[in-house]
Amino acid sequence: MKVAVLGAAGGIGQALSLLLKTQLPAGSSLALYDVAPVVPGVAVDLSHIPTGVTVTGHGKDDLAEALTGCDIVLIPAGVPRKPGMDRSDLFNINAGIVKALVEGIADHCPKACIGIITNPVNTTVAIAAETLKAKGVYDKNKLFGVTTLDVIRAETFVADLKGLDVASVHVPVIGGHSGTTILPLLSQVEGVSFSDDEVASLTTRIQNAGTEVVEAKAGGGSATLSMGQAAARFCLSLVAAMNGDNVVEYTYVQTDDRDDAAFFSHPVRLGKNGVEEILSYGELSAFEQKAKEDMLEGLRGDIKLGVDFVAG
Ligand code: 2OP
Repeated sequence: MKVAVLGAAGGIGQALSLLLKTQLPAGSSLALYDVAPVVPGVAVDLSHIPTGVTVTGHGKDDLAEALTGCDIVLIPAGVPRKPGMDRSDLFNINAGIVKALVEGIADHCPKACIGIITNPVNTTVAIAAETLKAKGVYDKNKLFGVTTLDVIRAETFVADLKGLDVASVHVPVIGGHSGTTILPLLSQVEGVSFSDDEVASLTTRIQNAGTEVVEAKAGGGSATLSMGQAAARFCLSLVAAMNGDNVVEYTYVQTDDRDDAAFFSHPVRLGKNGVEEILSYGELSAFEQKAKEDMLEGLRGDIKLGVDFVAG
């Protein structure tokens, strides 16, 4: 298995690369790409950790070599939020970065599975899809917006609130990856019940958790360590699925035969070729149904922005 991390020298990229160096199956290779000149050093640093994963570093003119032969490409490249910014404020810079990197994927490893982490994810996934379409290599089963951070945050907050072992708490989170488009399905958490006030406050906390980190870092960026962990979990699930395990993760994928939005986070059965099956997210409570209806127009707008960006 060859995995590339594009934007590997940044905060998310370094945390993610460390976790992959220590957790990918032995025999895998990890290619680290970044425009920052420190990237070969990050690769050397990681290469001293004794695991069966080979690490290579690739600078800004070396995207082709980083990507050639890749099975999975993860993209955390781009700029993070500062206090007072919404994820959509990153659009102007990050849209072009994602487009350029995805063009590289189309040219050098068009069959790879792609996990988009760069914000605004609601939009950058649509940019990636349109870019791949323009290159004639789009496979909707191989493009994912990584929304795993919303799931792990929801599980942490529910376990904290209810005094539970977090390993036994599973919280579905559907929709997108920004503000109210993040929709935790607390009505489906097994063995736990919530008051109406708890549902309202937990839902808001999960939706604003990224902002909680941005404010706590006070200008120093957004979530990097928890995002690195979330992206590593998603990547390792994909690797396990590509190796034949039965794995379901919540992830933001193209759902064209459903009527929510063109991209929507669902429980997805992963397999050898990426998406094996998009599963139903089940029954929603009245609160969740209303929250979904209220956010759909915004999510569709976020997606359209990405489509229009590539169309020019
Ligand atoms: C977050 O949710 C960085 O979007 C990321 O914190």
